[in-house]
Amino acid sequence: MAIQRPKGTQDLLPGAVEQWQYLEDTIRSVCREYGYEEIRTPMFEATELFQRGVGQTTDIVQKEMYTFLDKGDRSMTLRPEGTASVCRAYVENKLHGQPQPVKLYYMGPMFRYERPQSGRFRQFHQFGVEVLGADQPLVDAEVISLVWNLYQRLGLTQLEVHVNSVGCPVCRAKHREQLQEFLASRRNELCKDCQERFERNPLRILDCKNLSCQAVTSGAPTTHDTLCQDCSTHFERVLALLDVAGVVYRVNPRLVRGLDYYTKTAFEVMVEEIGAQSAICGGGRYDGLVEEIGGPPTPGIGFAMGIERVLTALQVQHKLPEEKTGLFAMLIALGEKAQNEGFSLLGALRAQGMPVNMDLQGRNLKAQLKAANRQSARYALILGEEELERNMLLIRDLTLGEQSEVPLVKAVEELNKKYQRGV
Ligand code: HAM
Repeated sequence: MAIQRPKGTQDLLPGAVEQWQYLEDTIRSVCREYGYEEIRTPMFEATELFQRGVGQTTDIVQKEMYTFLDKGDRSMTLRPEGTASVCRAYVENKLHGQPQPVKLYYMGPMFRYERPQSGRFRQFHQFGVEVLGADQPLVDAEVISLVWNLYQRLGLTQLEVHVNSVGCPVCRAKHREQLQEFLASRRNELCKDCQERFERNPLRILDCKNLSCQAVTSGAPTTHDTLCQDCSTHFERVLALLDVAGVVYRVNPRLVRGLDYYTKTAFEVMVEEIGAQSAICGGGRYDGLVEEIGGPPTPGIGFAMGIERVLTALQVQHKLPEEKTGLFAMLIALGEKAQNEGFSLLGALRAQGMPVNMDLQGRNLKAQLKAANRQSARYALILGEEELERNMLLIRDLTLGEQSEVPLVKAVEELNKKYQRGV
């Protein structure tokens, strides 16, 4: 039996890849405008990094990591997310010694052993941003407005931006206590997962999609009820700045995130049209994470968005650009001598930056013209024995159906003129 790709992964074929490139190019432009620089970290890390960084009580660490022992008996894990790795790189490369804040972005595959479904993969791709070394609300607002403006640039609509403050370790401990108190008497009405969460991570119960859990938690104390003065002032300032930036958002006091490292600001962006997996972006502040993994106390904030989900949203909303016709010309050489000459001409045209192809199978004129049309070539460059004898090249405009001849020695120059003029 033919071998198939692993469950929850995708092959990106020509046709789809162009859409990815369009999105990646737009992302890079926006990052440049906002002054973010790219960082690339390894695809796998010591397992401990995620256990300490993402948090032992999270679904990711408990159930979803691709963990293996390497041949030296070290426990390694394919990265399930990018934030912990970026913080490790920040510490390991002493980026805290540089002017702060350090503003970084990354794009690449992440791995989570989840149940695959529409919009949920085992290998998926994230674009993420991390700002390290600044604790001001202005940073939170810049990060969220980058997300907002990227989506505006892409033309996405129907966005729901949810913002919350999950507080600091001090006010969160208070919230945890109040929440457990509130839920204690109805604990057995919760789903199995939430019963486990009750001790481990009760905050996550607020986020459960299960209707019976939602019924139990309606009216439960939210993080807002317990925010300390500092967290509360920070949050108010972030919201005021988001107003200034023109970001349309909703404060959602029940928004809690699935990773343990968040403090203060947390946010998510949803597009309901794309189905159950509607979160296209999630992020927040993590002021304790760098210290948690062994670095100096350093505030941080960032987000990550699922590239697959953003592309689905763009598809559903018909916001992907029309595919560009790729090929400028198809060189059609008939016979071995013409092939030699044509092969050399092809090299000269490519060296000038013109996208050109040549038949590689020695087919006849008709078949080659058909191939030229199939590849949406603008021109067919025909070099038969007769043309070769006269040192001429026949240029057929496949859009207008006209043709003309140029001396072979002038071919590169003439074609380059047409290419530059875009005709
Ligand atoms: P996250 O919420 O786990 O956060 O993931 C961010 C985004 O990645 C999600 O909103 C979703 O679009 C996409 N995503 C997650 N899992 C999958 C999956 N299995 N298949 C497809 N897409 C998926 C983080 O990863 C944090 N590191 C974000 C962050 C950065 N917080 C601060 N800095």
